[in-house]
Amino acid sequence: MDALRIGLLGTGTVGGGVIRILATAGDEIARRLGRRVEITHAACRHPESMDEARRKELGGAQLHSDPMEVVEADDVDIVAELIGGEDVALRLIKRALERGRPVVTANKALIAQHGDEVFALARERGVCVAYEASVMGGVPIIQVLRESMSANRLQRVVGIINGTCNYILTKMRTENMEYADALSEAQKLGYAEADPTLDIEGIDAAHKLAIMAAISFGTPLSYPAVFTEGITAVRGVDVRYAEEFGYRIRHLGVARLGEAGLELRAHPALIPSQHLLASVDGVMNAVEVVGDAVGPTLYCGAGAGSGPTASAVVSDMLEVARTMAAPVESRTPALAFQADAVRELPIAPISELKTACYVRMMVKDKAGVLSSLSAILAKHDISIRSVSQHEDADAGGKVPLIFMTHETGDENLSRALDEAALENDIASDILRLRVENLS
Ligand code: HSE
Repeated sequence: MDALRIGLLGTGTVGGGVIRILATAGDEIARRLGRRVEITHAACRHPESMDEARRKELGGAQLHSDPMEVVEADDVDIVAELIGGEDVALRLIKRALERGRPVVTANKALIAQHGDEVFALARERGVCVAYEASVMGGVPIIQVLRESMSANRLQRVVGIINGTCNYILTKMRTENMEYADALSEAQKLGYAEADPTLDIEGIDAAHKLAIMAAISFGTPLSYPAVFTEGITAVRGVDVRYAEEFGYRIRHLGVARLGEAGLELRAHPALIPSQHLLASVDGVMNAVEVVGDAVGPTLYCGAGAGSGPTASAVVSDMLEVARTMAAPVESRTPALAFQADAVRELPIAPISELKTACYVRMMVKDKAGVLSSLSAILAKHDISIRSVSQHEDADAGGKVPLIFMTHETGDENLSRALDEAALENDIASDILRLRVENLS
């Protein structure tokens, strides 16, 4: 049988991983697919300066500095978009679909924000867009949610879905590393996005969560509705204080059907130290999926990096090759549910969320501070579960006061903390983290 011909857009971290896998595992892959997978065209910024070893791995592929030439080439069966970003990638993908070429992509920002348009065009042209690599790198969570869970009404999808944040928080805990050093290591290792603010501000996790929520609950992609917070305000001391209370800090994505509607949140949270997710360290990702028939299930693996992400890209190529000849109606819909059966669900506003919380604030170490604070908290109906004051004074002589609340309304606590910060200058430098008990 003729080889499956790939047009590769991007030869960076993920594209390079794809090139390596096809060069080193090509025989094994051919045994699975029944034909070889060959890159016939590849686009990269500077073909002339590609290193010798990479050039060799690419075999006879033609190199282009203009990615559109790859999309327009006739000897391409599948276009693999691995350049990331939005505008150029979207143009390339749309053109590939218009030409009737299936697309494999690792681009979560694009799927989360333009997926509805892209999938509609793919349906119209009778071709598919596969995006396993867009969420949790090498962990086949898209396959699980799109296909393996289809007997279930899903109740929640909760987990660690940004490898860079998890790497940073792990290094802050296990090696007392400063935030900036841990981030720079994550960048060197190829975990972080080209623009790492997408990782540390929680946006990358929000993209992934929007994708998982759509295919879990049969709703349109709702990225703008995801409540998003990053880890930039978390300090080494918070990681240590959380431990004292029996918790670890993780950046979580949470999609849950609750009484107030669909919760969509990506933010740092305290989780119990004994929970399985608390032992997921470094760049590993893990997600718990709970369905009404199956109960809780857990998926874990490397969520970023060249090899893991490329593993998902290559498996998508094989899957697309197997199904591309089938009529569109007989394929699993791109977003798991039939396009005409996708329904909007009310989104639960974060203000209505009720969770216990961890609060760290800097306070003056003098009589009356605690009672003023208690009065404010009581006024907003917030009950404290435990308090601890530490001696690590800052330059202004303020000391950290940490407390855990019982379950409380998100908005009540926000109002109380604003009041504590504004009135009488009781507290400054306040951090609030929600607690997810994961029960
Ligand atoms: N920057 C992402 C992460 C890579 O750290 O998880 C994979 O999406």
